[in-house]
Amino acid sequence: MGKIIAVTNQKGGVGKTTTSVNLTASLAAAKRRVLLIDLDPQGNAAMGCGIDKQKVSHSSYDLLLETVPASETIINVPELGFAVVAGNSDLTAAEVHLMQADRRERRLADVLLPIKSQFDYILIDCPPSLNMLTLNAMVAANSVLIPMQCEYYALEGLSALMSTLKSIQNSVNPELYLEGILRTMYDDRSRLTKDVSEQLVEYFGNKVFRTCIPRNIRLAEAPSHGLPVLNYDKTSRGAVAYIALAGELIRKEKN
Ligand SMILES: Nc1ncnc2c1ncn2[C@@H]1O[C@H](COP(=O)(O)OP(=O)(O)O)[C@@H](O)[C@H]1O
Ligand SMILES: [Mg+2]
Repeated sequence: MGKIIAVTNQKGGVGKTTTSVNLTASLAAAKRRVLLIDLDPQGNAAMGCGIDKQKVSHSSYDLLLETVPASETIINVPELGFAVVAGNSDLTAAEVHLMQADRRERRLADVLLPIKSQFDYILIDCPPSLNMLTLNAMVAANSVLIPMQCEYYALEGLSALMSTLKSIQNSVNPELYLEGILRTMYDDRSRLTKDVSEQLVEYFGNKVFRTCIPRNIRLAEAPSHGLPVLNYDKTSRGAVAYIALAGELIRKEKN
């Protein structure tokens, strides 16, 4: 199948990396073949999978700039059941090189084309900005998944993201669609969370995932052990929520 999903939001700290890592792990637990591409120079997704971002021989920098065959950038993590292309600070240089390259916004799409059939899903963890790396992710992707925190300014940020999505649909990737908006760090005791959440559903309808990811300390702890939450504490509310999200995504595929 080889469906490519860009996990994106130009805002930092909304749960992109947490979602990328844990949705990848949950899809893998559902026996899907999954590749996680860390496209953030901070390299948090790779580290959250127990990969030392400084020690990898090849990273998503090499994937994008084709310094080696794409297959050599893929790190299999058998104990987690999925594969990763690590990200690190080299990616900052990739952005500069890309600016001068041919088909600069299509590089990732081009390099993924021959390998995507090896996977059922490829998830891309995007950096917290709308830069050339994010643009490459959105051009390579079939769909975008937007994690957001139900806060006062979140809806405003979302409308900026929607207009970016539209302009990409109208130019470089007409097939790109919104996979869904994911409510993260959800606190069902907060009035504000509920209000923002209701507005979100009113406006985006069934494009809002039914699964909400609760604020859960296990989700925040797991990366320091280099593990997805499923491998750290599979009975935690965070783990259960990401399993539910994977189920929701897979069911949508069947309709
Ligand atoms: N559902 C959650 N519950 C508790 N902490 C969370 C949750 N989601 C994310 N976090 C924490 O919030 C911080 C930001 O999350 P992260 O996934 O890195 O966001 P982003 O990639 O969008 O910058 C991290 O420290 C992470 O561990
Ligand atoms: Mg991140």
